[in-house]
Amino acid sequence: MRRVLVTGGAGFIGSHLVEALLDKGYEVRVLDNLSTGRRENLASVQGAFEWVEADVRDREAVLRAMKDVDGVLHEAAMVSVPFSMERPRECHEINLVGTLNILEAARAAGVHRVVMAGTAAAYGNNPELPKRETMVPEPESPYGATKVAAEQYLRAYARMGGLETASLRYFNVYGPRQDPRSMYSGVISRFVESLVAGETPIIFGDGEQSRDFIYVGDVVRANLLALRAPHLEPGAVFNIGTGHSVTLLELLEVLARAAGREVVPRFASARPGDVKHSRADMARARAVLGFEAEVPLSEGLARLWKWRQKVRS
Ligand code: UD1
Repeated sequence: MRRVLVTGGAGFIGSHLVEALLDKGYEVRVLDNLSTGRRENLASVQGAFEWVEADVRDREAVLRAMKDVDGVLHEAAMVSVPFSMERPRECHEINLVGTLNILEAARAAGVHRVVMAGTAAAYGNNPELPKRETMVPEPESPYGATKVAAEQYLRAYARMGGLETASLRYFNVYGPRQDPRSMYSGVISRFVESLVAGETPIIFGDGEQSRDFIYVGDVVRANLLALRAPHLEPGAVFNIGTGHSVTLLELLEVLARAAGREVVPRFASARPGDVKHSRADMARARAVLGFEAEVPLSEGLARLWKWRQKVRS
């Protein structure tokens, strides 16, 4: 595998993928429409990759971007759950039709493998723990529904032959460049922003809810492993988490240590529809991809904090 197309390459996770691929000697093409991605996210590798400013909904542009590509890391998506509820049709066009465009073009171009960003939102509010890939999906938002449906397209295209596919169901990813600005941004990016601004972090609910937080660098490693695995079963789906969870109260303690300050949160009412606990079963990713998360929460938060001290808001 030589040339890799990263859709959503100017985004939070995509930009880390681009850096890692270049570092490993791949040729990289980025397709991004800059709707939520930012050119600044790729500042460290400017000039080292091919840039295509286009939308995954644009079939012709996707076809052109696929020329001479061996593998695709498909991160471009509408990623906000509440936004997907406000604009389900747009979410459908971007996440599902967009993925279909990628698959159609990949098949036509003879691409070897397509790896898509999936989501733990596939599991919905099912209380069973840990979440296993064999559980029946129960998405509760257009966002989750489009990602699960896209996984079915990945399977169908793999079955039709000519290309292999995988969906990586990311759990709660955190790290540098995650956008903290919305009410619904990842809790870690929001807590960090509060601390930087000298404000009090707000915990929705009692803080006993738990999540499987995974550092973006580990998510990058999972993608590289999925790209290079010798063989993938048609429609392979993998959880990408750590296999461990912490409560929000524990999270704040670790963050306070990383930031070297005392943190006293404020409590507000629980967010409607919140999942109480979430944790990935990592057996399949371990067995098939040889993937194991390596960055402990304390280390990941320390890196994030250090990075945040360096950048301007
Ligand atoms: C995450 C995804 C969501 C997906 C879901 C599926 C993100 C940003 N969201 O939601 O797209 O549908 O997994 O499992 O990755 N919280 C606070 N204070 C804050 C912000 C959040 O207490 O300032 C709480 C939330 O109420 C929640 C927890 O922190 O209980 C985690 O929130 P969040 O980071 O939004 O992630 P998920 O709810 O797991």
